[in-house]
Amino acid sequence: MTELQELAALSEKINNLEANFEEAQHRIAVLHVVHEVAGSLASELNLDPLLHKILAAAVEVMHASAGSLILLDELTDEMVFAVIEGGGGENLKGVRFARDKGIAGWVATHRKPLIVDDVNKDNRYYQSIADTFNFKLTSLLCVPMISRNKLIGVLQVLQSKPDHYFGDLDQTLLTTFANQTAIAIENARLYESLKEERDRLVVVEDEIRKRLARDLHDGPTQLLASIIMSLTFTKELIKHAPEHALAEIDLNLGVSEKALKQLRTFLFDLRPVILETQGLIPALEVYTERLAETDNLNIILTTEGEFERLSPRAEVAIFAVIQEAVNNAKKYAQASRIDLILRPDISQNTLTVLIKDDGKGFDVHAMKTGYDQRGSLGMINMQERTSAINGVFTIHSEVGHGTEVILSLPLDENLLSHSKDI
Ligand SMILES: Nc1ncnc2c1ncn2[C@@H]1O[C@H](COP(=O)(O)OP(=O)(O)O)[C@@H](O)[C@H]1O
Ligand SMILES: [Mg+2]
Repeated sequence: MTELQELAALSEKINNLEANFEEAQHRIAVLHVVHEVAGSLASELNLDPLLHKILAAAVEVMHASAGSLILLDELTDEMVFAVIEGGGGENLKGVRFARDKGIAGWVATHRKPLIVDDVNKDNRYYQSIADTFNFKLTSLLCVPMISRNKLIGVLQVLQSKPDHYFGDLDQTLLTTFANQTAIAIENARLYESLKEERDRLVVVEDEIRKRLARDLHDGPTQLLASIIMSLTFTKELIKHAPEHALAEIDLNLGVSEKALKQLRTFLFDLRPVILETQGLIPALEVYTERLAETDNLNIILTTEGEFERLSPRAEVAIFAVIQEAVNNAKKYAQASRIDLILRPDISQNTLTVLIKDDGKGFDVHAMKTGYDQRGSLGMINMQERTSAINGVFTIHSEVGHGTEVILSLPLDENLLSHSKDI
């Protein structure tokens, strides 16, 4: 090769490199825009506006004539047109087709992007769908939307301008964009289902409140009114016919006991409401406040760290164990103080619940030995409730040294986020 030839070859190489460099710069610039747009969409939590924004941005960035966002309906394994933009295809919204049909179906099934230069020559193309658009389509680019390895749907942009084809760069860009926005769609869906759950709980709580108000009105309120009437009558009896007063008082006692029983039942019924709607800690706060007030108990609730909400099963079980242990302390311990401690240990994956009293204590061994004959179920219930949530139940007590009831359970499997109920 002559020097001149070498120079020419070198200069060509430089030209190529420059072209490549320019293309790379262009790619970076466009990718940057795509990232920005996708990032700005991440904060949109309302599903419908989010879907519209995603498609509008895709059509704009791709300089396309039209586009559609097609979601996978996991229940029926069908693809559903969620949003259509441009070309009069809007009435396709809601139209369903089998997951493996058409170009979108191919992309969904193979989880691979696809460029079609002339849709009219591709036999995967759905003519009936094409006919819905009021312009003639030429090329298209369709990419899967995948979030955490799960197919959410496909994003498709269409071209009506002749000789306008989608290229590699467009494919890379739209794929990046689709995957980023798929996460946003998942988040919005999660947010919507949480909102629905919250609304459902609000309705449940409201219904329970109404029922309680009605029951309180029909039950104890009526009984109290009759007690007041009867007491007024008794006063008269004492003045004018004292020999009948005792019978009237007895009658009144009976009615009072009935009212008290009803009220106790209502109080008990109140427990699951707050437990279900607000969770263990708010329920325990109300519970301890009420005990301090009505039973004059010195009961102190301490939460030694934060932990996520537990599953309803775990919350109900823990609450029941605490109730039984506190009742025992109230009945037998003559304690001056009861401590209720929730001690989460994230690194050990445990939640320890302690119910401690400084009362007179008892001989645990002796009590267990004669338990069959006792006819009581408190200890067995606590034990069973604890093992139902894979926890360990222990009780330490010594005459003269108070009692400590300990419930220790594995955290992760008892978390609400882990539970199958949601
Ligand atoms: N905190 C406590 N302080 C003193 N004695 C207790 C305490 N908890 C339980 N006990 C004793 O253990 C016994 C068994 O309790 P439990 O199984 O709950 O049955 P019950 O409450 O129906 O008697 C009680 O009768 C009581 O003698
Ligand atoms: Mg008991």
